[in-house]
Amino acid sequence: MKRKEWCTVISQDELTSGIYSMWLEAKDMASEAQAGQFLSVYCNDGARLLPRPISLCEIDKEKGLLRIVYRVAGKGTYELSELQAGDRVSVLGPLGNGFPLTKAEGRTVFLIGGGIGIPPMVETAKQLNAEKKIIAGYRDRNLFLTEELENAGEIYISTEDGSKGTKGTVLDAVRLEGLKGDIIFACGPTPMLRAIKAYAAEHEMECYLSLEERMACGIGACLACVCQSRDVDSHAHIHNKRICKDGPVFEASEVEF
Ligand SMILES: Cc1cc2nc3c(=O)[nH]c(=O)nc-3n(C[C@H](O)[C@H](O)[C@H](O)COP(=O)(O)OP(=O)(O)OC[C@H]3O[C@@H](n4cnc5c(N)ncnc54)[C@H](O)[C@@H]3O)c2cc1C
Ligand code: FES
Repeated sequence: MKRKEWCTVISQDELTSGIYSMWLEAKDMASEAQAGQFLSVYCNDGARLLPRPISLCEIDKEKGLLRIVYRVAGKGTYELSELQAGDRVSVLGPLGNGFPLTKAEGRTVFLIGGGIGIPPMVETAKQLNAEKKIIAGYRDRNLFLTEELENAGEIYISTEDGSKGTKGTVLDAVRLEGLKGDIIFACGPTPMLRAIKAYAAEHEMECYLSLEERMACGIGACLACVCQSRDVDSHAHIHNKRICKDGPVFEASEVEF
């Protein structure tokens, strides 16, 4: 069940230039949260009414804490980066459907994260009972969350400028390392997800993608976040899926984007 809560910021750290990690106290939300779900974070500045969707990076059910890791992209995320321990922030969540962890159980899974699609892979990797090959794609040598990913599975890195790991995309790393797997869970920019969808079809791998579309309401009411789908949406009665409500994780062949 989603809830709107004022959450206390427990800590805020800059992991690398422009990338922040924040732990929030959110007892009820943490008890229900699943890997791959997201929060809608409200700005305190009334000029920015719409909440900003941010994926769950880690879930600590015992302590009632949630971690988000985000890039400062514009005014909303900049405002978020200014918060300090003890400050409070209004949050709606947990939202959306997470990764289908049971589908990967006992199999070899590629966990692929690109840029700001890497954070949800941390909790997903921690929870998976599978052979995990984690492929993380960055812009440059300013890596983040690598320690957490290393603790959860075998990690392979690619950078666009070649300053660390394989030069190129996450799929260049998969090919160069000769990785083989049964199923893919991925999150990242749309061109990366399109390429992964094609790779999965070519290699006959089951594939689940987390789409990061611009959102408005975040709860399925406004249709701001639709993508084309194979099936008819029960809400819109057309071949659409609402990424916030029906996703953000979809089986790859279910959606066109
Ligand atoms: C389900 C979901 C999960 C997300 N998880 C994360 C995360 O874990 N960490 C993270 O850093 N970011 C994440 N994002 C992207 C994040 O929501 C945007 O970066 C943020 O809303 C930008 O807000 P802003 O006010 O700072 O920027 P704005 O001023 O609104 O926009 C600045 C730039 O960000 C782009 N942008 C705005 N909204 C989105 C959006 N919803 N998706 C993609 N790009 C956007 C704009 O096109 C623009 O280039 C996620 C998005 C979705 C939909
Ligand atoms: S953001 Fe409103 S329906 Fe998805």
